Amino acid sequence: MDMQFKRKSTTTIFGCVFALFLPKICFAEKICTVPSEPVTIKENNTDDTVVVHINTTTKDVTLNLTENPGNAFYLRGSELIAKKGLDFETLSSPEELTVQVRCNKTGFRSNTLIVIVRVENINDNTPSFGQSEYTLNVNELTPVNTSIGLIEAIDDDSEVLYYSIEPTLNRYFRLETMYTPNILVNKVLDYDVLQQVKLILYAQDTPLPSQHAPMPSQPSERSFTATATITVNIKDIDNRPPWFQPCTRVTSGNAKICLSLGYRGRVNLTEKQDGALQLQPGPVYARDGDKSRNEEISYKIVRGNEDNIFQIDENSGNISMLKPADIAGPISLLVLASQVLNRDQFATTSVIIDVMKKSRNPPRFEKERYEGYVYISSGPENMVLRDRTTNRPFRVRARDEDFASGINPDIRYEVQYSSYVNITTDGFILLKKAVRTDSFALQLRAVDVSTGESGTAALSVLVIPSAGVQSPDESFRAGDMALLGFVMAALLVLCLIVIGYLISRVKKGNPDAFKLSEVSIFSSKLMFRVMLEVYSAP
Ligand SMILES: *[C@@H]1O[C@H](CO)[C@@H](O)[C@H](O)[C@H]1NC(C)=O
Ligand SMILES: *[C@@H]1O[C@H](CO)[C@@H](O)[C@H](O)[C@H]1NC(C)=O
Ligand SMILES: *[C@@H]1O[C@H](CO)[C@@H](O)[C@H](O)[C@H]1NC(C)=O
Ligand SMILES: *[C@@H]1O[C@H](CO)[C@@H](O)[C@H](O)[C@H]1NC(C)=O
Ligand SMILES: *[C@@H]1O[C@H](CO)[C@@H](O)[C@H](O)[C@H]1NC(C)=O
Ligand SMILES: *[C@@H]1O[C@H](CO)[C@@H](O)[C@H](O)[C@H]1NC(C)=O
Ligand SMILES: *[C@@H]1O[C@H](CO)[C@@H](O)[C@H](O)[C@H]1NC(C)=O
Ligand SMILES: *[C@@H]1O[C@H](CO)[C@@H](O)[C@H](O)[C@H]1NC(C)=O
Repeated sequence: MDMQFKRKSTTTIFGCVFALFLPKICFAEKICTVPSEPVTIKENNTDDTVVVHINTTTKDVTLNLTENPGNAFYLRGSELIAKKGLDFETLSSPEELTVQVRCNKTGFRSNTLIVIVRVENINDNTPSFGQSEYTLNVNELTPVNTSIGLIEAIDDDSEVLYYSIEPTLNRYFRLETMYTPNILVNKVLDYDVLQQVKLILYAQDTPLPSQHAPMPSQPSERSFTATATITVNIKDIDNRPPWFQPCTRVTSGNAKICLSLGYRGRVNLTEKQDGALQLQPGPVYARDGDKSRNEEISYKIVRGNEDNIFQIDENSGNISMLKPADIAGPISLLVLASQVLNRDQFATTSVIIDVMKKSRNPPRFEKERYEGYVYISSGPENMVLRDRTTNRPFRVRARDEDFASGINPDIRYEVQYSSYVNITTDGFILLKKAVRTDSFALQLRAVDVSTGESGTAALSVLVIPSAGVQSPDESFRAGDMALLGFVMAALLVLCLIVIGYLISRVKKGNPDAFKLSEVSIFSSKLMFRVMLEVYSAP
């Protein structure tokens, strides 16, 4: 060390002595200078941008670039120039490019300038998504806040990106935050309501105007946006059991259910019916409640078939008989429909089979054709009458020869093809409204509800003018008629007595023969008066 120091001092002394002749070597240590602090230039600069001006203390200094990273610089006179646009994103160390310039001049000590060039990152890149279109699948009933996908964009400027989706007021999906493009379920999805949603996802490299983020520092700062379309397919999951058809839909909260009222059919006692039983309202049939899955369904009788009278076709649901039923009355079967691949999804329904007693004779009306009458003035609740002259109500009766008495308690009457009348359970016919025609016809039906057998008869009803005295209010009452009969009889007896007396007188002589006619006139007058009194009685 000491040796070195001494040698250096010796050189300096020698130099200074020499400097008496060439003073510049000694005092102007550096023939060129640049600012010591780093020079900053923005990336994406225009070609031939001046980076720094090199100050030279004398003329004719030779400048040589001894270190030129990326061959990006050149010298023009005493200026260091950037040849082309510098790209922050592609430079290996954009924050610190070291450029060295050597300054030479004959007779002067050459020196090397170190220029640190700092390339500033600016927003010159567009963010981009890996794909322009994405397809996501989500099961219906996925819980709210579940992520269905994270779709991020990249930006070479490695800045914060701001995301948004459209439609902005989407009820079903939302972004986790504006910085994390995690697409979340916002509302429980129902395949029946919605099968597909199209979303547009935006990634912007400057804050979104709608958000209350600070405005960009320079209003003129550029902003780039990337766009991707997202198709979300909602998948029908197996969340519903089979539904027996027909059924009535009801909703209970989010759940939809479909209620069937069951099926009904009939067979004859001690008769085995061939083929599938005809049921009401239709054959046993269930369909998957998950419309688009439409899983295969199989059927089974799970209860009520203890005597093995019935069997059900596993695939079609057709119910048929294995042997006759030997007890009358309803047999109630419980039928199960379950999905073949997922037996946990099932439904049950009731199938009631009425076993009917054998009937040899259907009900039969006493006549095939009937006639009835109504007054033109009749209205609702008035009865159809049996004949023109009396006010006796018309009545029908159907007999069933299967019964010794002819009376089958299971017979029900019906009116067909007429809106004017209805029939009571006792066979009386009631008007439902005023009649506006001269006559009308209809069919009466007697149904044995225990066998389903029926008989019919025709009824024609004639509309007759209302006779004042014959209308129900003014007609004779039975009591009036009895009184009249009694009075007439009394008069007759009186007349006979008078006539007998006169005859006996005539037989004795004949002088009062004219009086006979007098008496008969008197008696006739008397009868007439009595009759009038009876008629006018209230
Ligand atoms: C270069 O020289 C000029 C005067 O000639 C002076 O104003 C400037 O500050 C100098 N620059 C440096 C970096 O020394
Ligand atoms: C130094 O620069 C001069 C002109 O400025 C040039 O002629 C010379 O070839 C350069 N020398 C080297 C070694 O690059
Ligand atoms: C100038 O610098 C170069 C290297 O760039 C060197 O080769 C040369 O000897 C120096 N001196 C002169 C006087 O050119
Ligand atoms: C980068 O430079 C190119 C061409 O010079 C220009 O079109 C573009 O707008 C510049 N980008 C930015 C962000 O300044
Ligand atoms: C979903 O997330 C939001 C915000 O994090 C929260 O307010 C809400 O309660 C969550 N909903 C459910 C069902 O977890
Ligand atoms: C029952 O028997 C009657 C005849 O007595 C027949 O008309 C009817 O079709 C039978 N019903 C069934 C379901 O076989
Ligand atoms: C089920 O019964 C119906 C008639 O009721 C018939 O058309 C159909 O072919 C039957 N299906 C099977 C598989 O037996
Ligand atoms: C007819 O009368 C019966 C009772 O006898 C009643 O059940 C039925 O509803 C009535 N029909 C009409 C159409 O009024």
